[in-house]
Amino acid sequence: MRRILVTSALPYANGPLHFGHILEAVQTDIWVRFMRLAGHECVYVCADDTHGTPMMLKAQAEGITPEALIAGVAAEHRATYAGFLIGHDFFHSTHSAENREMTERVFRALDAAGYIARRTIRQAYDAEAQMFLPDRYVKGTCPRCGAKDQYGDSCEVCGATYTPAELIDPISVVSGTRPVERESEHLFFRLGAFEGMLREWTRAGTIDASVANKLDEWFDAGLRDWDISRDAPYFGFEIPGHPGKYFYVWLDAPIGYMGASLALARRDGLDFDGWWAPGSTAELHHFIGKDILYFHTLFWPAMLTGAGFRRPTAVHTHGFLTVNGQKMSKSRGTFITGARYLERLPPEPLRYYFAAKLTPGVDDMDLSLDDFVSRFNADVVGKLVNIASRCAGFIARGGGRLAARLPEPELYAEFAAAGTRIGALYEGCDFAAAIREIAALADRANQYIDLHKPWNLAKDPARAAEALAVCTQGINLFRVLMTFLAPVLPAMAARAAAFLGQPIRDWNGIATPLLDAPLAAYEPLATRLDPKVVATLVEPEAAPPPAAPAPAPAEPAKPAGTAVAKGGAAAPPAPPAEITIEDLAKVDLRVARVLAAEPVEGSDKLLRLTVDLGAETRTIFAGIKGAYEPAALVGRHVVVVANLKPRKMRFGTSQGMVLAASGEGPGVFVVSPDAGGAAGMVVK
Ligand code: 2FM
Ligand code: ZN
Repeated sequence: MRRILVTSALPYANGPLHFGHILEAVQTDIWVRFMRLAGHECVYVCADDTHGTPMMLKAQAEGITPEALIAGVAAEHRATYAGFLIGHDFFHSTHSAENREMTERVFRALDAAGYIARRTIRQAYDAEAQMFLPDRYVKGTCPRCGAKDQYGDSCEVCGATYTPAELIDPISVVSGTRPVERESEHLFFRLGAFEGMLREWTRAGTIDASVANKLDEWFDAGLRDWDISRDAPYFGFEIPGHPGKYFYVWLDAPIGYMGASLALARRDGLDFDGWWAPGSTAELHHFIGKDILYFHTLFWPAMLTGAGFRRPTAVHTHGFLTVNGQKMSKSRGTFITGARYLERLPPEPLRYYFAAKLTPGVDDMDLSLDDFVSRFNADVVGKLVNIASRCAGFIARGGGRLAARLPEPELYAEFAAAGTRIGALYEGCDFAAAIREIAALADRANQYIDLHKPWNLAKDPARAAEALAVCTQGINLFRVLMTFLAPVLPAMAARAAAFLGQPIRDWNGIATPLLDAPLAAYEPLATRLDPKVVATLVEPEAAPPPAAPAPAPAEPAKPAGTAVAKGGAAAPPAPPAEITIEDLAKVDLRVARVLAAEPVEGSDKLLRLTVDLGAETRTIFAGIKGAYEPAALVGRHVVVVANLKPRKMRFGTSQGMVLAASGEGPGVFVVSPDAGGAAGMVVK
């Protein structure tokens, strides 16, 4: 038996879990469930990542303490993870006593060993908000290409990277004032001291080969000291011996893996040092996305080594998730939260789909909603469940008891033997290949039943025993397949176990078939996905009621030509002025089709839309440039206020208004009708 500690990346505590988080949690959970079935002691911990400037400012904007903010989010995160059947042994918080203890311990050890340097740096400072500004909190004009409204670290238009000091006309996103430069002493972790160790560690089977090549680029570029301190005000842990200085969130985040396992060890009397001491024989496996590779394959093993702990056994890295071929984006409706999914659909179809696409590599993965529906309906309902449902009835008719022997033991043995191969695929994180093998076996099981046609045999009383034997074979093949899928479909496996009258607890439990045993009444094990329900995952949410604007950061001016409902702000919504039904009837809302969309020269907010209203074509200026690639709007249906008095603007006349909605983030989303919408329809 191996002793294994497993983690997935800690989600930030300032927002809901989205499909990217769910993908990673499902990947980790499948791996953990497999390793447990295979007989290993496998412990899975995670936590919310709670510290940093965004957390502090978000709490301020909401008028609550950061502690209250993270408590609310933690409750949401726990519920969502539970909804997707993620079986954490412990879900903790980086803002915890255990994490403070471990963070201080790691820091003190690094400092004592000479790995912490002190240096004075110059940084952008907001004199009005009285705080140093992270690069992303300074905006201005790109010094290379002149693009306006760019972040302080890089330009989204030309790709240039620079410091906030190089921006032209910089402003602080926090107060809207021009930042000044200020000096401050910071603490640095001397990463370069670990280069030799890291080069070796990254080539020792710890990461996929595709990822190791990326690391070579970083080694070639040189490992620079890492700034691990931030000045007050900051939400985090104050650095011992350095009043007014806090640990940078990315220092205590991975230590959160230790904090969570420490809390678990203390709760359940487990051996913390057994996981973390140098030379430990336990394994340590991290699951992460490729965006945080640098932290997990360079800083983290170096910190652990410098502080006298063991290094990770493996860092399993996945690529990004796209939805319907698009980057997950709020403006495109492809930013799907876990909670939104769970309001509509059960968790296991998504777990199955993710499993069917996950490989050990870092290629991006697309969730195509059509493919999702057909894969689950075909593979799980059509093939797997079909085996059990076809056989169950004949066994019930034959007395509800499986026959005493299998008519084709070799076929059964072949299925059971596939467990070795499929298990190796799970362990190697090649779930896609495992699912392919399982689906191929399900085909063979169905072919076996088709060939022997128990429905024909059952018609002839003289052949009833044969029908029972064929169905006993079928149920046993089903049991093998369900065992193979138990890591992916744990709730379905539990239902199947109740039907079979035997728990699925052991990967090798299939070595012997289930014979001469009673079967419980068959209950449907899975239901087909309805494509209409699935399509609603990417429909824009109904616009929330208008609310007072959030205090900070400063809101962009409301652009002409777009009616924006602002939701999710801090202050309670101002009660909207009451109107009568007659007032409402004055507004002529029409569905329109976007024929063309182009940026407006001289405006960084507006798009010029040409829309088809059924009987006429109009030009409308809409302030949605920040959220949409113009080309992506062409062909889409939007809702237009058709009887708005034409409005003369600097760029031309706007002949109506496009309805749009926005929440706390910068995105402004056009309101679209359902799939049946067509140009000219009246909105009622
Ligand atoms: O990128 C992120 O979402 C971070 N919150 C991940 C932290 S993982 C670990 F280091 F804690
Ligand atoms: Zn630029």
